[in-house]
Amino acid sequence: MPKHLISTSQFNESKDLEPIFINADMMASPWKKTDPLYALRGRTVGLLFLENSTRTKASFQVAAQKLGCHTFNFDQTTSSLSKGESVEDTAKILSQYSDALVVRLRDHNLLEKICSSSSSPVINAGSNEHPTQAITDLYTIKKERGKIHGTNILIMGDLKYSRSVFSLINLLKLYKNIRIHLCAPVGFELPRQYLYDNIIYVENEPFNKVLPKVDVVYVTRPQNELHTEFDLMMTDFFFTEKDLALLRNDAIIMHPLPRNSEIAPAIDSDPRAAYFRQAKNGLYIRMAILQEIMKA
Ligand code: CP
Repeated sequence: MPKHLISTSQFNESKDLEPIFINADMMASPWKKTDPLYALRGRTVGLLFLENSTRTKASFQVAAQKLGCHTFNFDQTTSSLSKGESVEDTAKILSQYSDALVVRLRDHNLLEKICSSSSSPVINAGSNEHPTQAITDLYTIKKERGKIHGTNILIMGDLKYSRSVFSLINLLKLYKNIRIHLCAPVGFELPRQYLYDNIIYVENEPFNKVLPKVDVVYVTRPQNELHTEFDLMMTDFFFTEKDLALLRNDAIIMHPLPRNSEIAPAIDSDPRAAYFRQAKNGLYIRMAILQEIMKA
């Protein structure tokens, strides 16, 4: 793996992801739960989150601690950003105090600038891309279904603004025979730049015709913090209990979370609801990524 993990475009072939999956499997194995891990003992991981997060921040922090690292959390409200210090200077300073810096920052160009002035490896925890979420998502498909090649996936909801969707599709294109059904309200369709020649896309097929065919349903929430365009039609793209009846028994339901109302809590107890297992997998994937990136 290169020095920084910033973009899904750093992966050229599906086999590039295999070492991360193998390591994540090891991190998830039962004996690891009781054995302290000291793979990165004494190192420091900095968490520079300039946008809210529950899963990504907590899982990186716990992943680092399980590997024997110290962690520090940047507190935006008490920081010298309030004195006019730039984000770039802030990151440069924090990189000097850490052996890896995990950064969440919407502006991807600024994130790239941070990498060029950083003393330590930088991991993208969510910009306009979300590579560690996408790796977690593929790992979940592999773990739940046994393979990624040949996956027939429905991606639904707010596809215009979801960085998790962008990064997921960027990685799915590394696999063979991928078919993606896209279901989004008018005005919230997937940006055309994510339509790749080696993926079959199916649009405008009725929901009840799509559901029985797919291996994976990937639901996204309305990204309301990014726009004021919420469309009442969005509720037509919620996954409901009645939709469960149309889904095959071996299919799974995924969601990068957090969710709003697009999946009812009543669905959580269905064995096909994989989204909480998916979030747990994020811990093991981030343990594997920290080890890859800090092994030098
Ligand atoms: N999936 C995800 O990135 O969740 P958080 O925003 O809570 O980190």
